[in-house]
Amino acid sequence: MHSSLSANSLSSDYEVTEGRVGWQSPSNIALVKYWGKRANQIPENPSISLTLTNSYTNTYCSFKNNNDGLKVKFFFEGKENIQFGARIEKWLASLIPTFPFLGNMDLVFESENSFPHSAGIASSASAMSAIALCICEIERIMGTHVVDFYQRASHIARLGSGSACRSIYSTAALWGAIEAGHDEYAVPMKDKIDPVFHTFQDAILIVDQKPKSVSSSLGHQLMENNPFARPRYQRANENMTEIFSAMAGGDLEKMGTIIEEEALSLHAMMMLSNYLLLKPGSLAIIEKVRKIRNSEKWPLYFTIDAGPNIHLLYPQGITRQVKDFIEIELKQHCSEERIIYDMVGNGPVNLIT
Ligand code: PMV
Repeated sequence: MHSSLSANSLSSDYEVTEGRVGWQSPSNIALVKYWGKRANQIPENPSISLTLTNSYTNTYCSFKNNNDGLKVKFFFEGKENIQFGARIEKWLASLIPTFPFLGNMDLVFESENSFPHSAGIASSASAMSAIALCICEIERIMGTHVVDFYQRASHIARLGSGSACRSIYSTAALWGAIEAGHDEYAVPMKDKIDPVFHTFQDAILIVDQKPKSVSSSLGHQLMENNPFARPRYQRANENMTEIFSAMAGGDLEKMGTIIEEEALSLHAMMMLSNYLLLKPGSLAIIEKVRKIRNSEKWPLYFTIDAGPNIHLLYPQGITRQVKDFIEIELKQHCSEERIIYDMVGNGPVNLIT
């Protein structure tokens, strides 16, 4: 296993001066949450996620050698986003020591999401992982021999946005120093979980589409002064151990109990930092989900990211019943009745092969 970026590549003298690459990369939904970081995007606790199918970003990158340093332009859905371009340029500039070719390069990114950008879904995981894959692809075209392309992409995706490192792998990914995991990049988990999770469904109920009042990066920072941070990290580690055995054995009830506790703990941490992202609609959905689970005995569980939207996770076998329940009982709590039906997927796709 390679623990540093430089150990994962071998440069060659061969250099291509211009070209175009493109990668599609999906979003992911965390089951055990990453919340709190230190140093250079090192997570305070390990996390595990399911990789999605329908919520993804397509990013193309045209590159051209220049003589005056790294220059990044970023276009989102055809329109230049100068602020995001500056963020990407800063991130990529920090990678020049390990990707020297970036030091003399014009990069033009063109990106679009499969989901509406106003939907309130976190897009940083899919966006940053797609960019990381494009950079690794350029490096590959330049003739550098990389020992593990995906590990390298996961490593630099993490430096762009923590959770992005997990989007690199099909089905499920682990990030953090536990079992075979690593703090610096995610590792694939597909082979270590029961096949029931390979086709797991995720219905994303969009309760509120407005931008969040507190960003995730500020949220991570607020954990530094949260008196309950240490017990939270400890609990997340315990939940990781428990969820490994639940997922390996296909124990949906155990997995579901853990993911709901994780979602509520994440939001409890936010409340202890004196802010609240859940909305009345989020709570109404949670109550109805717990009620129908009790009466129908469905393996239907919720999780929540750093926002008010609710993800419902369930096995493929009960898709029809759950869809009916959502349409009749839950849709009314969603903004513009918006629901994204997603499911576990196969990870990133190279768009120019
Ligand atoms: O990757 P970031 O910095 O946007 O943080 C994401 C944090 C959560 O989505 C709330 C949890 C997770 O593990 O994805």
